[in-house]
Order: sequence, then C-alpha cells, then structure tokens
Amino acid sequence: MGPFDVVVRNARVVTAADEFTSDIGIRGGRIVALAVELPMGDVEIDAQGRHVTPGGVDSHVHFDQPTGDGSVMADDFLTGTVSAACGGTTTVIPFACQQKGQSLRDAVNDYHGRAAHKPVIDYAFHMIVTDPTPEVLEDELPGLIAEGYTSFKIYMTYDALKLNDREILETLSVARREGAMVMIHAENSDCIAWLTDRLIAAGHTAPRYHATSRPMLVEREATHRAIAFAELVDVPILIVHVSGREAVEQIRWAQSQGLKVYGETCPQYLFLTADSLGCDDSFEGAKCICSPPPRDKKNQQVIWDGLENGSFEVFSSDHAPFRFDGPDGKKAHGSEISFDKIANGIPGVETRMALLWSEGVMTGRITPQSFVALTATNPAKLYGMYPKKGTIAVGADADLVIWDEGQRFSLVNERLHHNVDYTPYEGMSLSAWPAMTLSRGEVVWDGTSPHGSPGRGQFIHCSRPDPARPRRRQSELPL
Ligand code: URP
Ligand code: ZN
Ligand code: ZN
Repeated sequence: MGPFDVVVRNARVVTAADEFTSDIGIRGGRIVALAVELPMGDVEIDAQGRHVTPGGVDSHVHFDQPTGDGSVMADDFLTGTVSAACGGTTTVIPFACQQKGQSLRDAVNDYHGRAAHKPVIDYAFHMIVTDPTPEVLEDELPGLIAEGYTSFKIYMTYDALKLNDREILETLSVARREGAMVMIHAENSDCIAWLTDRLIAAGHTAPRYHATSRPMLVEREATHRAIAFAELVDVPILIVHVSGREAVEQIRWAQSQGLKVYGETCPQYLFLTADSLGCDDSFEGAKCICSPPPRDKKNQQVIWDGLENGSFEVFSSDHAPFRFDGPDGKKAHGSEISFDKIANGIPGVETRMALLWSEGVMTGRITPQSFVALTATNPAKLYGMYPKKGTIAVGADADLVIWDEGQRFSLVNERLHHNVDYTPYEGMSLSAWPAMTLSRGEVVWDGTSPHGSPGRGQFIHCSRPDPARPRRRQSELPL
C-alpha cells in the first residue's frame, strides 16, 4: 500500500488565490500532499493539462422541501445530490423550513428524516424561520445554532413564510447574539400583492405577468429595508438571489458604509430575461417562473460586473425543482391557472458550475480565482465549513472537479440527472463540463455516469461563520 489512496496527477490547480501545477495526494478522503512528482497512489487519475477546482459548494438549494400548496419538489436528497455531483458540486446546503405553528426543532428533525440514507455528497442545513415565537427565539434557535445549524433564511414575501418588520428585528437580534448568518429574501410583499390583484382583475394572468408583478423596485425597497434593519441591529446579512441593478446598488451602498452586507446571485440572472417567461400568453413561460424574476440584458451585465467587482460573495443555483408536466409541479393547479398560483422556482443545481466556467471564465469575464471564490470558497466561509470545504489545501476534504474544456456542445435536459423534465437552459451552447467530480477522494461523476452509494454523503455541523461571530457593538443601543 502506497502513501496515497488516490493521486490526481499534473493538475492545474485553481484556488481562490492562485493557479499552479501540482499533483494532489489523497488519503482517507482528505488532501494530504500538494507537490510535483508525488509517489504513486493506489489509484492514479491523470489530470494533465486540465484545470482542477474545489468541488462546488451550492449554498442555496431546495430538495424535498414541503410547499404546503399542493406542489411537490421533484428532487429529493438522492436525485438532487446525484445531479449536483454530475455538475461538479460536492456540498449542498438545502433548507429545513419551519411551517407556521411548527417547532423549529421539529422542522430540522423532519428534514434529517427526509435526507436519511440518500445523499451521495456532503450536506448541511440552513433553517427557514417563519414563526419566531418566544420559544423559537429564546430556546430553539440558540440551541440549534450551537449544534451546528449556523445559518437561516427569512422571507419578506410569501404569505406562508414572511415575517413582519418587528419579527425580522427580533430574529436578527438573536442572530447577532448567537453568531448566525441570516439570509434574506428581499421583496416587498404588499407591493407584489397589490400589483398582482390589479393584473388579475385586468385579465393579465399568463406566466409572463409574474415578472410584471415583481418589478425591480419591490426588490430594491425590501433590500433597502433589510439593510437598514441589519444596520440597526448591527448584524451581518446576506441578500439572496439578487436579480439586477437596483438591489445591487443598495448592497454596494451598504458595503461602502462598512456594513457587513453580502450578496448572492444565481445563473438565472445571467442567462435568462423576463422574456424567458414568454412573449405571448403561453403556459410554457411557467418553466422560468422564479422570484425575483429575471430582468433584461442590461441587468444581466450588472450582475456579471458584480461577480467580478466584489458586490457578490456567492454564486448559488437556488435550485427549486418543479416538473413542468404532471399533476404536482408547475401545473399542480392546472395549466390555465393565473401566474400567482404557479410554483416559484427553477432547476439549476447541475448546470451552475459549467455555466459560470464556460460563459464566465472561458470568455474572460471573470478570473478562474473569482470562479472558485464565488462557487466554493466564499460560501464555505460564510456558512462555517471552511477550510474543510471550499478549497484545495492540505487538510481539506478531497472534493475536486477536473474540467473538460474547449469542446462546444449543446446543453439538453436529457444529459442532466435531476428529476425535472426540463432545463431553462435547453439548447444553450457551452464549452465546459466536469470531466470528473471527486467527493472526499471518491469518484462520484466520471464524465459519463454518476457513482457513489446513496447515503455516503455526510452531514456537516457548521461552525459559527467568521463574519457573524458575536462581537462588541459599534453603537450604544441597548440590544
Ligand atoms: O422562486 C424561487 N426563488 N423559489 C425558491 C424559493 C426561494 O425563495 O428561494
Ligand atoms: Zn428566496
Ligand atoms: Zn431559494
């Protein structure tokens, strides 16, 4: 037996800081050596001439999340993680969602049950806090944060999920005291409801009016409010799925004031526009209904700029998988239904990495280092799993993507492994895809087939993220 279980030979290693040629020696699922001319491993993988990046950390995915409205998510922890692995992602963070009236701990326990024996890659949970009762705020949330559930999402829209302003403040205050990272879905609920009622009264019910009902200003207003609340409470926040210029301007302003306000964006805001929801009244546009909605070409450019200039820390998929055909996805309430009844969310866990490497790195829009930072290193840091995850370094888990680059191909849903019957990126021409994905040194995608037994994925108890560590207040407010 040699010193290494696996050696990845002659890799062009990319980290968030560097690019260098090295062999990667792996033992017991971890990287134990980075050097040239390492001794032979029990298994040798030739990466000659290929970029090798850290396995992706997709910190915003929805798998098997109860919706409560009759629609059902198409991917569970098996199909979702297989799909992730085939697209170069080796860690996912889906959401344990509290239903109003439910205990937060029950929501987390229920979600562990849903995950049991299924994941093929490693995973952690964010929580979604929808009912911040005194019991949740004083007991459950602090206890769960201490146990390694160190991030949670709150919503400013959707009746079943949203918190009012006072509840947001109370929840942020607990995050500050306990050192958790708060993700905020920032859209103004009343503006959306008001616009929706008017659109429907005027007979504008087709999927494309989803975009009309959620203009950029509703995102701008809520982002501004969320930032003001975070400033008042003196706590870091991350604004999720940012779609365009107006929210980006709010985030950049906050960052210029020295506030710890982080931004996340997603492929749909680079590659889709409001026209993807349809230019006529066809139901086909339901395939691209997500919130916030995709905007226009100019806003796509703003998002590209934000990826390179530091406005965004995280590039995640927001994989929210609903089938187009069938009784429980986009058509759960019928195909003649008005846009406000159509399940929100689109698939993307498998395509996230390749879309950004092909159209971002290979076109020169972003550097390979930015790619790694956005897809792996930054989310691992923000959610308390770095340096175990998110980098290529001695001691880190051997989560790696070996890239196949240069051959253009047309992306079609048949090549994907999710349980969704479409991809919003059907027919797109790409020039990169993972040739191989390793999760803790084990091949989980070999360029042709997925591997790895269900349940091999390990649950990660996260640390308190560095930016959210409890610290002394800047202001004198008695919080
Ligand atoms: O439309 C979306 N984004 N659906 C997923 C749920 C969420 O708000 O992230
Ligand atoms: Zn959201
Ligand atoms: Zn989401």
